Order: sequence, then C-alpha cells, then structure tokens
Amino acid sequence: MNMSKNVIVAGGTGLIGKVLCEQLRAEGHHVRILTRKPTNIEKQQYHWDPKKKEIDPLALVAVDVIINLVGEGIADERWTQSRKEKLISSRTVPALFLLEAAKNQNVQHYISASGINCYGYDQPNREHVETDPYGDDFLSSVVEKWETAANAFQAICKVTTVRIAVVLTKEGGALPKIAAPVKWRLGAALGSGKQHMPWITITDLARLFAHVVKHEVEGPINALANTNTNKEVTKAIAQSLQKPLWLPNVPAFVLKLALGEMASVLLDGLQASNAKIKGTGFQFDDEDIAATLNKLL
Ligand SMILES: NC(=O)c1ccc[n+]([C@@H]2O[C@H](COP(=O)([O-])OP(=O)(O)OC[C@H]3O[C@@H](n4cnc5c(N)ncnc54)[C@H](OP(=O)(O)O)[C@@H]3O)[C@@H](O)[C@H]2O)c1
Repeated sequence: MNMSKNVIVAGGTGLIGKVLCEQLRAEGHHVRILTRKPTNIEKQQYHWDPKKKEIDPLALVAVDVIINLVGEGIADERWTQSRKEKLISSRTVPALFLLEAAKNQNVQHYISASGINCYGYDQPNREHVETDPYGDDFLSSVVEKWETAANAFQAICKVTTVRIAVVLTKEGGALPKIAAPVKWRLGAALGSGKQHMPWITITDLARLFAHVVKHEVEGPINALANTNTNKEVTKAIAQSLQKPLWLPNVPAFVLKLALGEMASVLLDGLQASNAKIKGTGFQFDDEDIAATLNKLL
C-alpha cells in the first residue's frame, strides 16, 4: 500500500519546520510549505498571509494533511500586554483562516504545534498526562486558545495537537542560549535549579510528527523525550563542553527584573508523561540528557 501523502507545512521555513520537511520528504511524502515570503518555487513554497486573509488558491488543492507550526516566538520579547496579544493572535488567526480555506478541500488530518507548558507549573511528583486540565498561568492560556482554534478543524477532519517541549538543536532555539554563558565560564543554574525542563531533540520531534502523520494519532500529545532539572541540564552542558561550573545559581529576582513575567519560562518547570505517544509505537532516539548534549555540543 502506498503510504505517501500530500502534506503542507505552515511555518515550514522555521527552526522545526526545516527539519520536519526533510524528514517527511525522506519518508516519501510530497511536501509543500506555506510561507509569507516564498523564495523557492521548486521547493514547493506557496504564499499566504493569514493577517491579510490571503492564500495561494492552489496551496491546499489535493492536500491530505496540514501541519501548522506558525506563531511568534514565545521567548523573543518581553511579555507586554500587546506582545501577549500577538503571541495569541499569531496562533489563533492563522489556524482559523486555514480552516476557512480548507473547508472546500479534502483535508483528512490537521496537526498543530502546541506547547508542553499548558498544565501550570511544577507540582511535586506530578507527571502530567494529556487529559489533565489547563493551568491558569499565561502560557497555559496561550495553549488553551491555540488548541481551541486547532480543534475547530474537528468539523472537517482528524485533529492532533503536539505539545512540544524545549527543542534541543545546536542550530537555534534554547540550547545555544543556555550553552553560551557556560562556554564563557559564566554558566550557572537558574533560580533554585530544581525546576523541571521537559526536552526533546529536533530530530526526534521531526520523527514524532512524521509518526503522527503515518499512524494518524489523534488528540493532544505530550512531545517530550525526558525531563531533567535546570541544574542537571546546566551541569550536563558544562560537562560536554568541558567547562567548570563555579558560580552560584542566578537568583530568581535578577531574572524577574531582567525579563519580567517572561522569567517564568526559565524559573518554573513541570513534569509530563510521554506514555501516550510511546503507546502508539513511537520510540525516541535521544533520551539521556548527558549523551544527547555530548552529541549536540
Ligand atoms: N522551538 C521550541 O523549542 C518550541 C517549543 C515548544 C513549542 N514550539 C512551537 O513550535 C512552533 C514552531 O517553532 P519554531 O521554533 O520552528 O519557530 P520559528 O523558527 O519561529 O518558525 C515559525 C514560523 O512561523 C511563521 N510565522 C511566525 N509568525 C507568524 C505570523 N504572525 N503569521 C504567520 N506566520 C508566522 C514563520 O514563517 P514565514 O516567515 O515563512 O511565514 C516562521 O518561520 C511554534 O509555534 C512554537 O511556539 C517551539
């Protein structure tokens, strides 16, 4: 049986999108990219602008699966009121516009990026599963609105929301930012250092999305390989870079002064279970933080 599908990836130009598109093509799928700035027609890039409600009329023709990764970077700017609104609207507006555009097509499956920070912060010995309620902090509210927009696709097709943990890759995202001070011998754990950080390598995440496409896994999915504390991650980075860690932890109030409410991304953690995706037969390649960081750094 031919398992090849026509997949369009909105936000396929981004950090995760690039690796995901390569993975999907390697698995034999026909991949298109939806972007506000198409530069390469041969790579099947199609133009859209969700804010202006514009989309190339051919973009969704014969598409089986839509993967939507778009959204302004959560940790790119301080969380002012207008930034908070942008973080939400840059996720909900494109999703609802895609639904409008997909209504007259034959889409079978809508897969949306989502965030693991949706259960509220560290509760001792609590490993969150997908059926747990949303928390009442800002990031949880972003995820709730994001997933509500994604779930509107249930009117026309299957829906999956991939609750992504911190993505580890040396190409960008969190890891180079955490590793930079350690390289300069100025690394230190943050706050208490005991906050939990769920993580996944970018290659495992791309394989996980491809697994969801192939096996049509539905509903919310916690996408993490493992969880380590901030101190364990900082130590593992120092060991793989062969640098000493000698400074005391960076006090929480310093981070709060520098970053405002956004400091919660660094200071608050949570634990989550990956049993649901493993139960569908998915296996992670990278599960040990020290071995993973040795490989990446
Ligand atoms: N990286 C992580 O550690 C991580 C962790 C948890 C969740 N996530 C989520 O996973 C998704 C992808 O992450 P990423 O790291 O690959 O992000 P990224 O590198 O910033 O890429 C996101 C892409 O979305 C598009 N985009 C951004 N803002 C948009 C807007 N207002 N309207 C329309 N398109 C917009 C851009 O594509 P064009 O400019 O080509 O249009 C961009 O290339 C994001 O939603 C992110 O929140 C990421």
